[in-house]
Amino acid sequence: MDKKDPDLLEKVRQQFDSGPYPRQALEKSPKDNVDFLYIHSLITPYYLRNQRFIETEGKVILDAGCGSGYKALALAEANPGAKIVGIDFSAESVKLAQKRLQYHNIPNAEFYTLAIEELPSLGMEFDYINCDDVLYLLSDAAVGLKAMKSVLKPDGIIRANLHSYLQRFHYYRAQKVFKMMGLTDENPQEMEIELVRDTMKALKDNVWLKAQTWNARFEEEDEAVLANHLLQGDKGSTIPEMFSALEAAGLEFISMVNWRQWQLMDLFKDPEDLPLFLAVSLPETSIEERLHLCELLYPTHRLLDFWCGHPNQAKPWEPVAEWTSSDWQKAKVHLHPLLKTAAVKEELDLRITQLHPFEISKQLPIAKQQLSIDSTITACLFPPLLESAQSVQSLVQRWQKLRPVDPLTLERTTEDEALAILLQTLTGLESFGYVLLECQS
Ligand SMILES: C[S@@+](CC[C@H](N)C(=O)[O-])C[C@H]1O[C@@H](n2cnc3c(N)ncnc32)[C@H](O)[C@@H]1O
Repeated sequence: MDKKDPDLLEKVRQQFDSGPYPRQALEKSPKDNVDFLYIHSLITPYYLRNQRFIETEGKVILDAGCGSGYKALALAEANPGAKIVGIDFSAESVKLAQKRLQYHNIPNAEFYTLAIEELPSLGMEFDYINCDDVLYLLSDAAVGLKAMKSVLKPDGIIRANLHSYLQRFHYYRAQKVFKMMGLTDENPQEMEIELVRDTMKALKDNVWLKAQTWNARFEEEDEAVLANHLLQGDKGSTIPEMFSALEAAGLEFISMVNWRQWQLMDLFKDPEDLPLFLAVSLPETSIEERLHLCELLYPTHRLLDFWCGHPNQAKPWEPVAEWTSSDWQKAKVHLHPLLKTAAVKEELDLRITQLHPFEISKQLPIAKQQLSIDSTITACLFPPLLESAQSVQSLVQRWQKLRPVDPLTLERTTEDEALAILLQTLTGLESFGYVLLECQS
């Protein structure tokens, strides 16, 4: 248990005992929310780290600080066949999480009332640890990360996050105001929530604190006020602080969870036409510096949400952009299993038969950009990939059947031409995480 500030720890526990988070109705299920399940799938970070596909069957997953169990349910839905273990130091949260997974008939799930710092006492090891919206409540995030590392299998992966100091700057000011008013001396409840609302009502609309931390949602949702203006123990961090915590815990950064939205170059109007000093210096910057620049230039993310693991555990791999044509000929293609849904199949059938492009980014909006695939390429790739993983060779042959001749010259489509067309699309789909490409060397 974190000994640094026992009073604060007790306040955090009380806050979540009196209001387990999140307050989702028991019967609500995340199973049709592909976007939400994607970030809870072990397949996603395992691929980003190793460029390999992993089966989820039989894996052991921990939800550390599971709260009322909605994310534990998402972990179960996103990772079929995995065993789910949830811990939280709030006994009331644990009871609700247990009830939730029973209600949804998740058979292989168990929950314990336990602090993250006491994880080694469980005597279990995990393939994947999810620690969502918890670390920023600890007095030292590195202590929590170290405890999780001690129960992580050698090639296991941790997903954890910190609150962004830069994005939440205004809430930290609000928390100071309400602390001065004594609203967080004890566990804040209905009366304190109402006092926050009364204060906001009394302030002029253009007063910064109100303009930047208040909207209609806070009038209606008690939980939103508790999770922002009155959150006990909430701390903000920057990217350098996140990397320092990882270093102190002896963990290696793998990727940001929403990595497609942390692309520095996407912040420039024309990345091909940068001022010379940027064009020369940016390619030299480290991942940490690039991410820090992103948060300084455009701090839109509430969470610094990352995947990490034991150092030097990544399997050796070549970026797809550097594959040779012989690598491509030996490659295997998987559609991310979370895209194998009835809704995606229905949409695909419609697009293929009507000869319309398939807008895959609508099915799973990984980035803010739109991504559409031409209907013939869609017909070539997706029906077989929905069934099972395919070799690139078999997809090349399928393309040759679908487009036997070049439409301009009417010459026979060669294997090389078919490969050139498919690899362009596959490279794009892979960079967004829709397909996973394994090089079978
Ligand atoms: C904001 S809630 C997040 C719950 C859940 N992870 C989610 O994202 O829906 C934070 C949870 O962390 C738990 N928590 C905070 N500090 C903890 C600690 N040191 N050990 C175990 N649980 C802790 C709280 O009891 C609470 O349930």
